[in-house]
Amino acid sequence: MRTQVGIVGAGPAGLMLSHLLARAGIDSVIVENRSRAYAEARIRAGVIENWAADLLMETGVGARMLREGLVHDGIEIGLHGERRRIDFKRLTGRGIMVYGQHEVVKDLIAARLAAGAKIEFEVSDTNVLDFNGKLPKIRFSKDGVVHEISCDFIAGCDGFHGICRRSVPAGVLTEYERIYPFGWLGILSESPPPSHELIYSYSQRGFGLYSMRSETVSRLYLQCAPDEDIAKWPDEKIWDELKRRLGQDGEKILKTGRVLEKGVTAMRSYVAEPMQHGRLFLAGDAAHIVPPTGAKGMNLAIADVLFFSRGLTEFYRSRKTTLLESYTKMCLSRIWKAQRFSWWMTSMLHLNPADNAFDRRRQFAELDYVTSSEAASTSLAENYVGLPID
Ligand code: FAD
Ligand code: DHB
Repeated sequence: MRTQVGIVGAGPAGLMLSHLLARAGIDSVIVENRSRAYAEARIRAGVIENWAADLLMETGVGARMLREGLVHDGIEIGLHGERRRIDFKRLTGRGIMVYGQHEVVKDLIAARLAAGAKIEFEVSDTNVLDFNGKLPKIRFSKDGVVHEISCDFIAGCDGFHGICRRSVPAGVLTEYERIYPFGWLGILSESPPPSHELIYSYSQRGFGLYSMRSETVSRLYLQCAPDEDIAKWPDEKIWDELKRRLGQDGEKILKTGRVLEKGVTAMRSYVAEPMQHGRLFLAGDAAHIVPPTGAKGMNLAIADVLFFSRGLTEFYRSRKTTLLESYTKMCLSRIWKAQRFSWWMTSMLHLNPADNAFDRRRQFAELDYVTSSEAASTSLAENYVGLPID
């Protein structure tokens, strides 16, 4: 098989890249080790930054998002039960789109397949080869047969546990990492959200996040141990804890419902630099991870592939490599700002077992400041809705 860009991974990064390239007349093939049904059902991120929602619209894959997504003009921050609103619209002129990542994935898969694109699902033993030369290859097995794609470039969009980053020779990448001493226990439930906007709640019992996928489906998270045993959390215990972390009126405003999905996610901040080696380019979670507080993961993945698609477009139009060479630099400037924001939101809102009474008072003062100062809340708002992309 021959294509211009071989893409490993059909998550938001790989699919959006393939979509953007097609619009520029560049051919690509995606290989994905999971099934289409699995990729379309995997519940993950839920918040799309303003510019990313615009990009989905402008490139023709945002129609369902516009119909079914929820536009939010702010969030609420809970401080020991008292809730204070941060009004994004007033502070930045912009809002955010609440629309599940798996819905974005569904929309992109449908658009790619309708346009005749090739997505090989359920592959195994993926390998990336020869990316130091001019004709890199992706080798994989499907239905017991070994296949090879030769291409001009490989896009490593295979997530944090993928094979692309690990295929870069030893000594090339520098890794930066922070592991957090907590995780999130998340549920998806058939119940209306407690408020029409997201609530990020700081409480003495630990952090709680009250998000949603629609007016009848909630996405709710509790701070927990990074290796929390989900078996120790029957549904009633989860609901009880969610109510308590919401504060005095938790009992009244949090409606319960059938739990559709349950899981625990550990948290880390991670960046690998550079994001390119020869003709292998890493994008999205394959190159960096943020803790979820602030919902930056999927948005960063989309930003990376936008930069990469511009570099490839320049290359195929003029054979110039200026933008491809500056890919890492363009991405990292945004990534490190999102790393800072995600680390800051995480540190401000979670109870760290290593903290003492001084730290708790300091944390409370910071939340009080952020929710009462125009300057501080504007800083949170402009990062949350998404820094401008150019
Ligand atoms: P991925 O979505 O991970 O896609 C990578 C794809 O590559 C996958 O489909 C995978 O199956 C495929 N793949 C892997 N290895 C191979 C291989 N060897 N061969 C072929 N294909 C391969 N972000 C938020 O903002 N909010 C959240 O609430 C949130 N929750 C999360 C929960 C979990 C459990 C995880 C893991 C992440 C969460 N994130 C969240 C982060 C966000 O979902 C990611 O940042 C986003 O998925 C990144 O997109 P991606 O395309 O780079 O990677
Ligand atoms: C969601 C996840 C987040 O990490 C976040 O900060 C906000 C919302 C969500 O899944 O809805």
